[in-house]
Amino acid sequence: MVANEELIKIAKEVSYNAYCPYSKFPVGACALFESGKYYVGCNIENSSYGLSLCAERNAISTAIANGETSKLLKIAIYSPMSSECFPCGACRQWIQEFSKGYNVEIILENDDKGISLYYINDILPYSFKLI
Ligand code: THU
Repeated sequence: MVANEELIKIAKEVSYNAYCPYSKFPVGACALFESGKYYVGCNIENSSYGLSLCAERNAISTAIANGETSKLLKIAIYSPMSSECFPCGACRQWIQEFSKGYNVEIILENDDKGISLYYINDILPYSFKLI
């Protein structure tokens, strides 16, 4: 299984591919599934601002499009613009959707402390679920 340090490193590399001419806030994400496979995503903005796609949802979409069916275990998120780039509310809900009930690890980089760890159940308590 890929180590947390490696997942953050991959998220960092992917952040360089971000298409963010409007916000100039690049984000990269790397989502690790129980299958052992990981998938990457970066944010992709649009001149119609509301259509912009976050890095985390891009990574999870890529996983699903590639046939991934196992549970999401971990997601590393990185932005060169922010220490601890937390997922937005919409991305938290997406992470929860593919957790299959597992308390997904959120791996961030803190400028002072190095890698920091959070859990989806702590950052999205009382979440909406149908399944
Ligand atoms: N962004 C992400 O990629 N992930 C998040 O969880 C929060 C925000 C992107 C969206 C937009 O392109 C830029 O960061 C600034 O909001």
